[in-house]
Amino acid sequence: MKKILVTGGAGFIGSHVVRLLVNKYPQYKIVNLDALTYAGNLENLKDIEHASNYEFVKGDITDPKTVGRLFATQKFDGIIHLAAESHVDRSISNPMEFITTNIVGTVTLLNAAREQWKDDFGGKLFYHISTDEVYGSLGAEGFFTESTPYDPRSPYSASKASSDHLVRAYHHTYGLPVVISNCSNNYGPNQFPEKLLPLAINNILNKKSIPVYGKGDNIRDWLYVEDHAAAIDVIFHQGKVGETYNIGGFNEWKNIDLIHLLCKVMDQELNRPQGDSAGLITFVKDRAGHDQRYAIDAEKLSSELGWKPSLQFEEGLTKTVRWYLSNQEWMNRVLSGAYESYYNEQYGDR
Ligand code: NAD
Ligand code: DAU
Repeated sequence: MKKILVTGGAGFIGSHVVRLLVNKYPQYKIVNLDALTYAGNLENLKDIEHASNYEFVKGDITDPKTVGRLFATQKFDGIIHLAAESHVDRSISNPMEFITTNIVGTVTLLNAAREQWKDDFGGKLFYHISTDEVYGSLGAEGFFTESTPYDPRSPYSASKASSDHLVRAYHHTYGLPVVISNCSNNYGPNQFPEKLLPLAINNILNKKSIPVYGKGDNIRDWLYVEDHAAAIDVIFHQGKVGETYNIGGFNEWKNIDLIHLLCKVMDQELNRPQGDSAGLITFVKDRAGHDQRYAIDAEKLSSELGWKPSLQFEEGLTKTVRWYLSNQEWMNRVLSGAYESYYNEQYGDR
């Protein structure tokens, strides 16, 4: 029996990771620690919330008392740390929350793990989930590898880079068993509609304009969220302590081309005339310091641990669009804020 702490499990990627672990490993106990910020939505986990190997704990990773109490009552074998402030635009308007959650929160967890495991690090693992944005911005050529020097350029990516450095520092200084992965842009069900794809899907559905920053020529490398969760499972179980693994989709898209493809899929799925949705595209003011291109070289992960993305992009995008179209109630509850009352309905005062 293993007891695993997942932080940020009510968020977009975290909820897919929790579901995968709860379903795949009935012999494990999965504890989900999440503060339920605006991005945390327990409705993402409705299908597994009563599973006997799952427990939800509402709590803030930046609070040493909450974290200390949790570690004192549960003996974790591993930690998969996803909790973070994750949206670049929010980090530009309000950097401080990113510093607190992403940096102080990570150190609070590192301290608790170190304290709990100090007598024997054997078989333990602190797995830190990070982003390709720590590597900075690429020109037309090249890829981010695990040895690309860090060059973060937004408050979000700087806070994630800082947390990565601290995780490595705890490994080198104290011998804490850690592993880090840096992933490219995820897409799929349950993504908060501040991010490009769910925002555009919702706007197209409601015939609202689709805001494309600048000229739409920035490039991202897109990966289906369940493929990221599968990579996390592989790295957690087979990754080498002290190592870093890049995760990517081998799937680069210029934003404007991605939006045109999305418009095509939406027209098909909504039985609208082809070209209808593309008429909603509107170029708006660019993001400050907008990174030009991200592209991950995931060769190490595929050659050493055998992971590969399972879905072709058009297939993943169609699957994603269908999910949002058949889960409009999910979107409406997120947009109206109704999802935030779910915790009280489900858990009362706990
Ligand atoms: P998200 O914003 O959807 O979810 C974040 C979760 O963390 C939410 O459930 C939120 O309630 C929780 N949280 C925030 N602050 C907390 C705190 N102080 N204490 C406890 N819980 C807190 O994020 P996401 O897109 O699912 O990203 C998850 C992780 O993956 C992040 O670390 C992010 O940097 C990383 N990542 C994301 C992507 C992507 O494309 N979304 C790509 C690579 C890496
Ligand atoms: O690369 C991994 C990162 O991907 C993660 O670490 C972040 O947590 C995640 O939010 C994501 O960051 P991006 O900034 O790339 O994602 P976002 O969906 O915000 O934007 C994708 C691209 O689309 C980016 O070039 C900005 C652009 N954009 C975004 C929005 C919200 C638009 O053109 N219009 C928009 O309205």
